Amino acid sequence: MPTVSVLSLKGGVGKTSVVLGLAGAATVRGLATLVVDLDPQGNATSLLKAHKTRTTVADVLGHPTRETLEKALTPCDWEVAPGEVDVLPGHSSVIRFDAWAGGAWRPKLARALSHLDGYDLVLIDCPPSLGALTREALAASDLALVVTTPSYFGAQGVERAMAEIDEITKSVNPTLELAGIVVNRVRSVAEEHTYRNKELVEIYGRTTLFKPSIPDRIAVQQAEGFGQPVQLVRTAGGREVAEIFDTYLTSLLRKGA
Ligand SMILES: Nc1ncnc2c1ncn2[C@@H]1O[C@H](COP(=O)(O)OP(=O)(O)OP(=O)(O)O)[C@@H](O)[C@H]1O
Ligand SMILES: [Mg+2]
Repeated sequence: MPTVSVLSLKGGVGKTSVVLGLAGAATVRGLATLVVDLDPQGNATSLLKAHKTRTTVADVLGHPTRETLEKALTPCDWEVAPGEVDVLPGHSSVIRFDAWAGGAWRPKLARALSHLDGYDLVLIDCPPSLGALTREALAASDLALVVTTPSYFGAQGVERAMAEIDEITKSVNPTLELAGIVVNRVRSVAEEHTYRNKELVEIYGRTTLFKPSIPDRIAVQQAEGFGQPVQLVRTAGGREVAEIFDTYLTSLLRKGA
């Protein structure tokens, strides 16, 4: 059961879209997937239409016990037989766990998720910051997947995210590995995008970047609008993106094995 953190310092680069794309790819394969929504915005929770619970990830961080975890886990409205997606739902109040005072700390999410049972894949959707919540996610993960757009600030964000992963590997989670960098929303006709992509390859190496990159496709936004996985958007763009997520999933499952 690989646990994968999807993170970036920058907001709006496509973390949640990547989490949902991977969850969709996993359910098409019949896998049981859990999406952990660590973002106070709760986008993954609402897009998946997670069934309402009174207990959320905020309670789980407050009391990282098996009992609280089991109370919080909930199914969602996504129907992509034969697999299924459960959600550890987000809540705005989880923001109180994002403060980072420095110094020693004991991971709470990792403790809670150690009680998980029966999932083939766990995906953690991180908030757009490298605060204590993203640290909690990395401490609880086997793999870290960094998302960026092919832009100047995107590349800077990747550098910060890589430093954070390094830090967690050296401190609380020595088994954490970098799964790679996903470059999202690429427009092949944009020279700036080609330049930024090349720059990332030069800095981090060809093998660190997931291939192919994710193109900018309206299908990703349509999936959101329909409240469905992109795998059910029956357009050329939908199929193209779904195929890419399937390739990424194969790579993640291999790396997490
Ligand atoms: N490949 C893509 N093609 C077209 N639109 C995309 C693509 N990826 C993401 N988007 C759109 O960009 C917007 C931001 O994406 P998303 O919410 O996944 O980013 P995020 O990194 O999770 O944001 P936040 O940092 O706020 O959590 C969404 O409206 C989404 O539909
Ligand atoms: Mg998001």
